[in-house]
Amino acid sequence: MKTLILNGSPRKEGDTASLLSVFKATLLGEVLQIDAFEANISPCTDCRACSNHSGCCKQDEMQEFYRKLEEYDNIIIASPIWMETLPPPLMSIASRLQPYFYRPYTGKPKKGGILLVGGGSGGAEKAESTARLILKQLNVKEIHPLILSNKTDSVPTKDDQASLRSVCALAEWMNKNN
Ligand SMILES: Cc1cc2nc3c(=O)[nH]c(=O)nc-3n(C[C@H](O)[C@H](O)[C@H](O)COP(=O)(O)O)c2cc1C
Repeated sequence: MKTLILNGSPRKEGDTASLLSVFKATLLGEVLQIDAFEANISPCTDCRACSNHSGCCKQDEMQEFYRKLEEYDNIIIASPIWMETLPPPLMSIASRLQPYFYRPYTGKPKKGGILLVGGGSGGAEKAESTARLILKQLNVKEIHPLILSNKTDSVPTKDDQASLRSVCALAEWMNKNN
């Protein structure tokens, strides 16, 4: 079983990281994590080359993402909520799924999970619907219910037992059927 994690947090020991460390400790198989703030992946510039040629012409780390996509059984989006949605570097990666707008990716169907953390200043609806759209473009057919730790200004995720239990359940769900 192979799992790809798209991590939208720049903080190495932050709230998203707390969820991910418990998740990875329970999950079986191989894991590849792309840390959006460190990846060399630039945003789509809507050049439209992918409208009549397959693939993307920008030569950066996203090329490896396209090449390996077929290998993954699971895809996780794990991120802080920023301005009620996802941080810009994660949106850069999302924008590079534009080739699949013209030619939908119909390879191996995948299972998915969305892990969000927020300080508590707003809802998670927009971030969740954006994350769902990303997973849909990657042919994720089954998405686990949202895992949300959304009062991190007062309760850091490392102390949010309910969300830590939920990520264990997510990992067990992925372990079971793959
Ligand atoms: C630029 C910026 C925008 C933010 N916007 C929101 C928001 O809209 N809603 C919210 O609940 N928290 C917001 N936050 C707070 C973070 O989501 C919160 O601190 C989170 O726990 C950080 O997660 P991390 O440690 O994994 O990076 C924002 C933080 C930053 C830096």
